[in-house]
Amino acid sequence: MKRDGVAVIDFGGQYAHLISRRIRDLGVYAEIVPFQNWKEVLIDSTVKAVVLSGGPASVYETDAPELPEEFFKIVNKPVLGICYGAQLIAQALGGTVGLAEDGEYGRTRLVVNKAEPLFIGTPEQQDVWMSHGDQVLALPSSFNIAASTDNCKLAAFQKEPNLYAVQFHPEVAHTTYGKQILENFVFNVAKIEKNWNVTDYVGEAIKEIREIVGENGMVLGALSGGVDSAVACVLTDRALGGRLQCFYIDTGLQRADDEAYVRHLSQHLGLKLKVVNAKSLFLSALDGVVDPEEKRKIIGSLFIKVFEQEASALGHFDFLLQGTLYPDVVESGGGAANVIKSHHNVGGLPERLGLKLLEPLRWLYKDEVRNMGKWLGIPEDFLMRHPFPGPGLAVRIVGPVKEEYLDISRRADRVLERVLKEEGVYSDLWQAFPVFTGVKSVGVKGDARHYGWVMAVRMVQSVDAMTADWYRADPELLEKIASTLISEIPELSRVVYDITSKPPGTIEWE
Ligand code: XMP
Repeated sequence: MKRDGVAVIDFGGQYAHLISRRIRDLGVYAEIVPFQNWKEVLIDSTVKAVVLSGGPASVYETDAPELPEEFFKIVNKPVLGICYGAQLIAQALGGTVGLAEDGEYGRTRLVVNKAEPLFIGTPEQQDVWMSHGDQVLALPSSFNIAASTDNCKLAAFQKEPNLYAVQFHPEVAHTTYGKQILENFVFNVAKIEKNWNVTDYVGEAIKEIREIVGENGMVLGALSGGVDSAVACVLTDRALGGRLQCFYIDTGLQRADDEAYVRHLSQHLGLKLKVVNAKSLFLSALDGVVDPEEKRKIIGSLFIKVFEQEASALGHFDFLLQGTLYPDVVESGGGAANVIKSHHNVGGLPERLGLKLLEPLRWLYKDEVRNMGKWLGIPEDFLMRHPFPGPGLAVRIVGPVKEEYLDISRRADRVLERVLKEEGVYSDLWQAFPVFTGVKSVGVKGDARHYGWVMAVRMVQSVDAMTADWYRADPELLEKIASTLISEIPELSRVVYDITSKPPGTIEWE
């Protein structure tokens, strides 16, 4: 691993990331390791403890991801199995795992009968988050029960000094004492010292950039108006000074303040920036196009074309800087990484331009990138902005994209953002945006019939965009959003609220 810490062995799904994030939040470095690499975990001396993640399979299925008995026999560092990971420990060492009579899903009452060491500092009865159909039915020899629920007698079990297992999910916020339980494992059992703080990591990252790029390498960095590319550019600029050239392609599909933000940021932080105005190019290519996929393809390929032209006009470069984050890097059994990657708009560019990739944020999670950005002097309101899709407002306008619709969408986006900030909810949301539905409806404004556009409002909460919940907004807030939109944007007659979660919906409409 990159430094001393906890290896989180991944058995699929998104659990592994959540566990690793929680451990990093405790100030201890954590890395995700695919289960096939278990031998590395045994011999790597930087691995001070191991967590086995949850996963969607059943341990007794033929192709289920597993660890051999040998792993548990020779491992000489503390191991914590969570859910599927707990069942693996039991199964590998001679216990029995099977379908539970009653599965447990959601908040469940746990009774602790042996507090040491995982439950120290937590009450005898506590709520934990369960999500399992299978469970451990019989323990391997010399294991003890530490806690039970009504339907799951073996909800926590252990064989001291090194093997610990919990059927519930301590990494989930609904497990009331989850943080304490992870702390007990990391600090009391594994005796790891705090060693991870993203601001300390800045120095290391700068050194790494210098080593990769060498003394004369030139780097090209595209700013998108988003957080990741901004932090990647500012960090790289700190490392290389004048050898980073940034640029921003104005597609005409961005939010109202995107270009101004990027210009302000680069002035404020002294980045070398070229702004390319490609608005009319994008708008004429999109003229009359209705199909969402076709819109995306047109935007993607035009972006690459403009990028190529501008890059060669700017001179010779050796590296392309990308704000790739840790979840995008880790192959996680079809998790968030794959989906978000498929959205990347510059895919294929580095090869075509003969550039090597520079990805200085590839070890970091989004919150860590925000913290790093703060430390680097990027203004907080910029860092807290919601994610915005590469194809921009084109996928938030149903049907053809026109200057008029873009203008209405931009103004509506601004109004919505302002209201949410005024009401103090903006930062509770993963994303909030208006969608131009392309539908007109009748309304009454000032005693007169008004035939105007219907705007939909989408507000979601999410951890990683893989799944999302529609936001259960207070009716007073919805009322304020609708009335402000209608009164400030004369072209609108009606506002509707999108109450579709993901799945089955996606976050964006197109
Ligand atoms: P969906 O709509 O697939 O979106 O649920 C998941 C997350 O990805 C963002 N998104 C994109 N990001 N290029 C991007 O960089 C894209 O083409 C793109 N499409 C969607 C979306 O805003 C959400 O956060």
